[in-house]
Amino acid sequence: GAPIDLDLTPIAEGQAIKLFWRGKLIFVRHRTKKEIEEARAVDVATLKDPQTDAQRVKAGHDQFLVVYGNCTHLGCVPLGNAPGDPKGDFDGWFCPCHGSHYDSSGRIRKGPAPLNLPVPPYAFNADAKIRIG
Ligand code: FES
Repeated sequence: GAPIDLDLTPIAEGQAIKLFWRGKLIFVRHRTKKEIEEARAVDVATLKDPQTDAQRVKAGHDQFLVVYGNCTHLGCVPLGNAPGDPKGDFDGWFCPCHGSHYDSSGRIRKGPAPLNLPVPPYAFNADAKIRIG
C-alpha cells in the first residue's frame, strides 16, 4: 500500500481517531498533558514489554501517539478513542474481550496481552501532518 498523509489538527486533545492503512487499523491519539506525564513517569523496568515513552513517539511531537489498533492478545479492538469510552486503569485503552489495559503510551500494563500496541512507520512532514508508511 501507498503511504498516506494525515492532518492531525482536527483531533481534539484527549481524543483519538481510527483509520486503516494497508488493511490494518491504526489509532492516532492527541494526548493530554496528564497522559504524557503519566506515560513518562513509568518505571520501564516494571513493564512486560519494556519501552520508554520517548521510544514510542516522535521527539518534539509527543502529544501525538500513533499505534496499531488491535489488541496484541487475540486482536480485538480496544476501547478508549471516543469521548466517554473506558480507558482502562492507565488512561490509555481497555480491551473488553479479556481485560487488557494499555497505558497512555499504548504499552500493555495489565491483562493477558503480551506486547505493547506496535507503532507503525510514520514521520512528521509538517507541524501537525504525518505520513504513515
Ligand atoms: Fe484483547 Fe484478549 S483480545 S484481551
